[in-house]
Amino acid sequence: MVKLNEHYQELQQNYLFSEVARRAAAFAAEHPDRDVIRLSIGDVTRPLAPAVVEAMARAAREMGSADTFRGYGPEQGYAFLREAIRDDYAGRGVAVDADEIFVSDGAKSDLGNFTDLFARENTVLIPDPVYPVYVDTNVMDGRNLVYLPGSTENGFLPGPPDFPVDIVYLCSPNNPTGAAYNRAQLQAWVDYANGCGAVLLYDAAYEVFITDPDLPRSIFEIPGARTCAVEFCSFSKTAGFTGTRCGYTVVPRELSRGGQQLHQMWYRRQTTKFNGVSYIVQRGAAAVFTDEARDQVRQAVDYYRENARIIAAGLDALGFQYTGGVNSPYIWLRCPAGMGSWAFFDYLLENAAVVGTPGAGFGPCGEGYFRLTAFGDRARTREAMERIAALFRP
Ligand code: MLT
Repeated sequence: MVKLNEHYQELQQNYLFSEVARRAAAFAAEHPDRDVIRLSIGDVTRPLAPAVVEAMARAAREMGSADTFRGYGPEQGYAFLREAIRDDYAGRGVAVDADEIFVSDGAKSDLGNFTDLFARENTVLIPDPVYPVYVDTNVMDGRNLVYLPGSTENGFLPGPPDFPVDIVYLCSPNNPTGAAYNRAQLQAWVDYANGCGAVLLYDAAYEVFITDPDLPRSIFEIPGARTCAVEFCSFSKTAGFTGTRCGYTVVPRELSRGGQQLHQMWYRRQTTKFNGVSYIVQRGAAAVFTDEARDQVRQAVDYYRENARIIAAGLDALGFQYTGGVNSPYIWLRCPAGMGSWAFFDYLLENAAVVGTPGAGFGPCGEGYFRLTAFGDRARTREAMERIAALFRP
């Protein structure tokens, strides 16, 4: 009889955001009279930029005409998109080759799929709290995990440990805490990885939210990163592609371990298991880098920044402790009155019909914390903060 992957038994029953959605839906079904506001999953609400939509529509029309129709595209992504991404990096002073960029259907898939390249025996270092995909995908593979605690003492930005590991996940700006590493802190990580032969898997999905010019937006701004780091990027949060799906991963050619080039391995993996992102979506993604779309895309990001400001101001008025909201679309707050994360989730849902994400879902150090997202609709965000204020106003 078939033997199943026993490591699935070690996972929580549901993926965090599915569990939150399930509980919110159950509450809404039981209370049809309540108007539930979701500030939980970081899903965007602003429409795609008109220049992006126009590029997609043009591409769709090309697909409907015999002389411009396209079948399979290059698995690594069309050159027009990889070159636009390369030029965007160059504009920020970062040199990456178009051939080092792999276009995909999103950072989440790539972060999970990249574990294909690593043996099961590796030890994986995961900051805590952090995006649950890193933990869950490695649990599925049966790898040994070591948590690196984040807290208010280290600003939720833990530095390298004093022992070697094999794989390190970093997320900056961090999901969920909003904390972002500075250059010196990232340099310490790069030196650590080069020193012990670890590979840094750097999740830059929220880089567009960085406003502080002193904070790096790419790990490749850091000297030495090309021999130890892979960077995962997304059009989801930067340009509203959560529904259309597009991201990219940068694997530098200099990165090799045990004589094997990770670039070559990832190329082999992707050409075998992936057939690329649709031409229409890639045309839309390439349009993000045009002058016309840049302004439109920035307006959407500014909209979310203003939501973050509204949430933060609401929490300030109530005297809540929180981090994030600046350089990040997430606000990470301490649950009031010593409540646990899921207890606060239930309390807020029942008393304000507001859904957030329990901090405990991001790792053991997230217990007692709660995450709100700035990706919601403006009026709904205001309304949610008014309801929270009504509950907690002294
Ligand atoms: C989140 O809410 O943390 C994100 O939306 C999840 C994701 O991007 O997959």
